[in-house]
Amino acid sequence: MADRRRVADRLPTFPWDRLAPHKATAEAHPDGAVDLSVGTPVDSVPERVREALAAASDSPGYPATYGTPQLRAAAADWLGRCHGVSADPAAVLPSLGSKEFVAWLPTLLGLGEGDTVVHPELAYPTYDVGIRMSGAAPVASDGLTALGPAPVRLVWVNSPANPTGRVLGVEHLRKVVAWARERGAVVASDECYIGLGWEGGDPVSVLHPDVCGGSHEGLIALHSLSKRSNLAGYRAAFAAGDQALVDELLAVRKHAGMIMPGPVQAAMRAALDDDDHAREQKDRYAARRTALRGALEAAGWRITHSEAGLYLWAAHPEHDAWGSVALLAEHGVLVAPGDFYGPAGAGHVRVAFTATDERVEAAAKRLRALA
Ligand SMILES: Cc1ncc(COP(=O)(O)O)c(C=O)c1O
Repeated sequence: MADRRRVADRLPTFPWDRLAPHKATAEAHPDGAVDLSVGTPVDSVPERVREALAAASDSPGYPATYGTPQLRAAAADWLGRCHGVSADPAAVLPSLGSKEFVAWLPTLLGLGEGDTVVHPELAYPTYDVGIRMSGAAPVASDGLTALGPAPVRLVWVNSPANPTGRVLGVEHLRKVVAWARERGAVVASDECYIGLGWEGGDPVSVLHPDVCGGSHEGLIALHSLSKRSNLAGYRAAFAAGDQALVDELLAVRKHAGMIMPGPVQAAMRAALDDDDHAREQKDRYAARRTALRGALEAAGWRITHSEAGLYLWAAHPEHDAWGSVALLAEHGVLVAPGDFYGPAGAGHVRVAFTATDERVEAAAKRLRALA
């Protein structure tokens, strides 16, 4: 046992445990806590999606790892209709939420010791976790030119970004794609917030012809229904892009049993086929974002980036990340410290606007009292 190389030993401690005392403080507020820390959807699953799930519930046989042809066609159709991406349904692969795909991609691509994988400097922590699980070396960097001769095999991009809400423009993405293609590296683009642009135009996919020149070679884009359709509880996401990479990943995922349940495949297809519920949900988030943004700014926080996605990236001139967390918790509002996402976040907090209208109004009222 002593010389077993435990994967768990390669991973960071789960940071959210450090928030527990502040959560207790926030919960002691007489009108209850407003939890804006995690960013989990709170609104109902759309009716038509629940109906599709129920209609497919008599599902005794094994589903296909590749997904039903109808699901893959719905995903390809959505990419074309909503994001100007021309994708072949054959190059679509369902995943059990995008977190699973992020965590396992380096391993499934065969990366390991001696390989380098780049992820954004301020980032969703699962990129780092997945790279470490594979045994490859993570490098947190937004600039690829400074990397030198390291044997980079995979580059993660995330636009719109968690936690900052930053959107990468066409030019930036084109440069990443060109850099990676010159070196034979794969670009994995986590686009799970792509439909949630607020300012500065619609976020663009790495698979858009303006970015990739019409070829998906070396590219994988990752999409999730968790936020668009309130399906975090269903674990519904998909990857699309380079046919050769999709085929390779499918071959491994079949062996590994990474299979989306049949009723979830049916529900996800129904969600992808409908844009009305996504528009309504986006309107809800827009109103919550406006209320929280105004209240945070009135109370002295400055918002940077945050042009898309589900978070406000906020800094206070007198408090660092944990100082802001503590102050807000005393007023019953729980937010995430920016250093959860990398040392460069030590001056910021991430404020999710995934709470009910009632809780968002309660938070805004408490923030206005701080002004
Ligand atoms: C950047 C990013 N990628 C992936 C995920 C995982 O989403 P899911 O597994 O629900 O698709 C999240 C969740 O918040 C995220 O912020």
